[in-house]
Amino acid sequence: MRALLDRGDEVRGIDNLSTGRRENLSEVLKRIDFRQVDILDLDATRQACEGVDYVLHQAAIPSVPKSVLDPLGSNRANADGTLNVLVAARDAKVKRAVYAASSSAYGDTPTLPKHEAMNPNPISPYAVAKLTGEYYMISFYRCYGLETVSLRCWPARLRRRNARDACSTSRPDGAPL
Ligand SMILES: NC(=O)c1ccc[n+]([C@@H]2O[C@H](COP(=O)([O-])OP(=O)(O)OC[C@H]3O[C@@H](n4cnc5c(N)ncnc54)[C@H](O)[C@@H]3O)[C@@H](O)[C@H]2O)c1
Repeated sequence: MRALLDRGDEVRGIDNLSTGRRENLSEVLKRIDFRQVDILDLDATRQACEGVDYVLHQAAIPSVPKSVLDPLGSNRANADGTLNVLVAARDAKVKRAVYAASSSAYGDTPTLPKHEAMNPNPISPYAVAKLTGEYYMISFYRCYGLETVSLRCWPARLRRRNARDACSTSRPDGAPL
């Protein structure tokens, strides 16, 4: 977001602040159109997409352990939420939607380096929901012509993330998820 503002783009941001914190936006809050919106609220997500050229979809519950404890909640935020974003983006005729997908799609496949031609092998409910989002991205291009891009991100230590929300890629016994 900071990079977009620095290059002169107008930015509208939505977040339900379930794990995100408003303080994290303090540097930029006056320069963006921030709305506290849940992507599970289709009407509000549609309104947020009105007049927008590009959607950068980052919202998620990005936690393997939480998804193991609550697969329904994970699926709602990560799969249903992504579908809502796509419907809203399609209806608002945005030029492109870019999705933060997850390297968890590779599961415990031992092959290195990983590459996109490999068959997905998701293990955790989080991985399945994020991969479902990728398939929806492809489907919305094929069915509706909405240009979509999925970027399979790798785990990163994030300065602003609450420690309690950290993503884990293994079970407590060390087995991969
Ligand atoms: N950080 C990583 O290591 C990593 C690795 C692979 C993929 N990803 C993906 O990248 C994206 C961003 O990850 P992050 O680490 O910045 O996550 P984060 O937890 O820091 O941010 C996610 C944000 O989504 C918001 N959110 C959750 N549910 C929502 C909902 N229903 N409606 C609106 N907002 C909602 C949260 O409040 C939070 O601010 C996620 O989609 C994640 O799956 C992250």
